[in-house]
Amino acid sequence: MKPILVKNPLEKLPDILKRNIDKNLCVCNEVIKIDVINAIANGAITVEEVRNRTYATGGNGCCTRQVERLIECIHSI
Ligand code: FES
Repeated sequence: MKPILVKNPLEKLPDILKRNIDKNLCVCNEVIKIDVINAIANGAITVEEVRNRTYATGGNGCCTRQVERLIECIHSI
């Protein structure tokens, strides 16, 4: 399957999700939000794929819902 690439992922996010872009989204593994956003924009469409690329959600999973929300927004049509 061809990866689904999104050119301007920030345009897909509501303002509230654009905050703290350079801060840790995943505190457990110290992964900043923009790295997660870029992984999603570069074709990660599941939480597992985001984890494989960035290690986000790989701690105790407490940021899973945030990652799911970013995937929903960025890959929404
Ligand atoms: S903050 Fe990401 S797994 Fe805990």
